Amino acid sequence: WVLMATGRSPTNIAVIKYWGKRDEALILPVNDSISVTLDPDHLSATTTVAASPAFPSDRMWLNGKEIELSGGRFQSCLREIRKRARDVEDKKKGIKIKKEDWEKLHVHIASYNNFPTAAGLASSAAGFACLVFTLGKLMNVNEDYGELSSIARQGSGSACRSIYGGFVKWCMGKNDNGSDSMAVQVVDESHWDELVIIIAVVSSKQKETSSTSGMRDSVETSPLLQYRAQTVVPGRILKMEEAIKNRDFDSFARLTCADSNQFHAVCLDTSPPIFYMNDTSHRIISLVEKWNHAEGTPQVAYTFDAGPNAVLIARNRKTATLLLQKLLYCFPPQDNDLDSYMLGDKSIL
Ligand code: DP6
Repeated sequence: WVLMATGRSPTNIAVIKYWGKRDEALILPVNDSISVTLDPDHLSATTTVAASPAFPSDRMWLNGKEIELSGGRFQSCLREIRKRARDVEDKKKGIKIKKEDWEKLHVHIASYNNFPTAAGLASSAAGFACLVFTLGKLMNVNEDYGELSSIARQGSGSACRSIYGGFVKWCMGKNDNGSDSMAVQVVDESHWDELVIIIAVVSSKQKETSSTSGMRDSVETSPLLQYRAQTVVPGRILKMEEAIKNRDFDSFARLTCADSNQFHAVCLDTSPPIFYMNDTSHRIISLVEKWNHAEGTPQVAYTFDAGPNAVLIARNRKTATLLLQKLLYCFPPQDNDLDSYMLGDKSIL
């Protein structure tokens, strides 16, 4: 027999960035972070997990290609879910699995992203959140979302935020064992639904420095990282939560842009320096800054993760339409330099 479960998780984009770990093995961060979870119809991972006594080992396929499972992160997630597994009974199939049987049952996992992995857009967040969620479903783990978030964190830090929709805060926690380092929902997806997110794919090349190794180098060499984590981020987190709750776009946009820029400043402050943004990314920042300045109040916020692609958050649909026009004017599609597409409302394209 084979028992299966399927789940889907969206990716998330940080507006106050996570950059730096205080514990590499448990994936515990040096500061809190806040993100917005995207609509699963656009950027998400879909994962099917199957368990069978006929499987001699655990195996995984990503977008149809088998991948090595030797990494500790996958094993941590599987071990933590197995620990919490419960009895499962499928009367129709005549299957009965006792909780202790899960230790001996191997799993096969197939995961797909509905966006190109090569586009350099965060896929580990959606991937690990989905893996944990779906394994939990298969093994009848009925712990609360906080606990699932804490397990997803051990796959990839940013994954702990993809367990929830809307705006989400990852509380860094204090405990050495990581038991209090998990995400909580700030507001749900209906709270601020006039925001429109546009992702401008500047380069579809894979990033040169992974987040994991980049942040390790920053922790070891950047004096700015310590200052940011201890002195800047705590105040920004409070202000960002406030801005989100009040749907205060002006404060939201200022904090989002400032935090993205400080994160990239930390990257430059790392030895050797890390360059995630390129000339096109810088041109997009100038375009938005000039526009916001000319209007007197911010119309669009920008944020860049560990790569050159721009995530642009427009205050409403009207602004998003104007933004797309500006982007297409400044970066004509025949340049093949920038493909922009819209999330949340395809009809605008
Ligand atoms: C710049 O979660 O990918 O996107 O925990 O090592 O897997 P690991 O790193 P990851 O880092 C994400 C970094 C970021 C900022 C963020 O998402 O907060």
